[in-house]
Amino acid sequence: MNAGLKALSRCSIAAVAVLAAAGCSPSGVSYSKDVQPILAKNCSECHAPGKEGFTASGLDVTSYQALMKGGKFGQLIKPGDALSSTLNMLVEGRAHASLRMPHGREKLPDKDIEILKVWVNEGAKDN
Ligand code: HEC
Repeated sequence: MNAGLKALSRCSIAAVAVLAAAGCSPSGVSYSKDVQPILAKNCSECHAPGKEGFTASGLDVTSYQALMKGGKFGQLIKPGDALSSTLNMLVEGRAHASLRMPHGREKLPDKDIEILKVWVNEGAKDN
């Protein structure tokens, strides 16, 4: 974990504790720079049109628009609310164990999980 990301996670824990009063809001997570590469590396081999994850769930992670649209069961991201966003539940392993993503693989590194969480909590912007 590099220093910047350590600061980010420490920052978000502090922000929760003091409700960001310290002026330490963990901002600056970018969809194109931070989020998209995580999805491309870990998810898009299955969640792209024609692939098994897409066929099973309807989720396509290859564009912002498709990601925000969600899957067969509706939206997976609630902007501003990572706690109840299905996407975060699955990568964090908060859903049923058989439904953890990436499907049948190792859990994502903590820093990637944190980036997805901060991004959703910041409003899941196309930035
Ligand atoms: C090896 C293939 C594979 C990979 C890699 C993969 N998935 Fe999936 N995903 C699936 C399958 C298959 C399903 C359908 C549910 C099931 O059978 O468990 C699914 C379902 C889902 C769902 C549920 C959709 C819904 O409508 O409830 C989400 C959200 C999801 N995946 C997100 C991700 C994310 C985010 C990643 C990357 C971190 C990822 N997946 C990586 C195969 C994959």
